[in-house]
Amino acid sequence: MKLTINSCLPSECSPLPDFNNLEFGKHYTDHMFTMAYSPQKGWHSPTIAPYENFSLSPATLVLHYAQEIFEGLKAYTRVDGTVGLFRPRDNFIRMNNSARRMNMPEFDVEVAYEALQQLLKLDKRWVPPQEGASLYIRPTMIATDAVIGLKPSTSYLFYIIMSPVGPYFKIGEKGLNIFVEETYVRAVRGGIGEAKAGANYAASLLAATEAKKKGFADALWLDGVERRYVEEVGTMNIFFAYGEKVVTPKLNGSLLPGITRRSIIELLKSWGETVAEESIDIQTLLTDIDAGKCTECFGSGTAAVISPVGSLHYKGIDHPISGETIGPVSQKIYKALTDIQYGKAPDALGWTSTI
Ligand code: COI
Repeated sequence: MKLTINSCLPSECSPLPDFNNLEFGKHYTDHMFTMAYSPQKGWHSPTIAPYENFSLSPATLVLHYAQEIFEGLKAYTRVDGTVGLFRPRDNFIRMNNSARRMNMPEFDVEVAYEALQQLLKLDKRWVPPQEGASLYIRPTMIATDAVIGLKPSTSYLFYIIMSPVGPYFKIGEKGLNIFVEETYVRAVRGGIGEAKAGANYAASLLAATEAKKKGFADALWLDGVERRYVEEVGTMNIFFAYGEKVVTPKLNGSLLPGITRRSIIELLKSWGETVAEESIDIQTLLTDIDAGKCTECFGSGTAAVISPVGSLHYKGIDHPISGETIGPVSQKIYKALTDIQYGKAPDALGWTSTI
């Protein structure tokens, strides 16, 4: 499949935003990648062209039944001035897993990866130069049939857009205060919780809004059946440290298999540290936090990177963790991960690629 590239003229390119003051997802680069799917042609017409609005029929299936999946990955300006990607193929592989679950067509990971490299070459000036900022990359797939009977679409659009971003959360010295959600659930086993589908994020919005109204940074989900086991936070997987030992909820079919999550587990194992993926009972966890046995909590994600959590609020009671300061385990993992991403440390696990 030949990639068509229609780049914009220098006079048509947008001015760059202030890289020191970036609202997450507000600005988009000059170009985007699109590729169409039809039953006759399969995936076809891979094209890089100037960023522009879509024109869609109001009957387009994605607008009615949310047959949509997406990914999030980042490009970084490294300390030597080169631009690097972090585990890009893993995102496209996960997107194909999401596609299967959402009854959407899989695509060739190498085609998407090659397109992304070309797109980044063209829009390199949009990768913020400073550490702490990056270019967030959003591959997306939508159902495009304009017939509103309830059925999987026959046509799809895959696209990639990119946005320069700074830190996702404004985290104070105390870390994030998180509300443990009792009323709503995000997903259930057998549902679409482990797919990176927009619908999962739609399901999370009301709980997050209510948590924010009460002054919390976000909501932590418990499992949808027993409302007892810890699953994930709005935009992040979650980790707990018991001294040196790190624990995270095991993948049970209803939570997102995060790539940052997996990277943390692999990093810890490569250091010979103990890391367990297990069911985490909220009551036991809170007892351990109150007793000072659970010493740290942090969220992980592409957008969130490693975000320290300072307290969990459950059934009207605050449970401060680790004296609400940012602990040594979170700090060590944050540094190790971002040092690899920004080219400050050797990439011993072979996770990065250069544009
Ligand atoms: C990511 O970390 O890539 C996400 O998907 C978070 C996004 C919902 C803001």
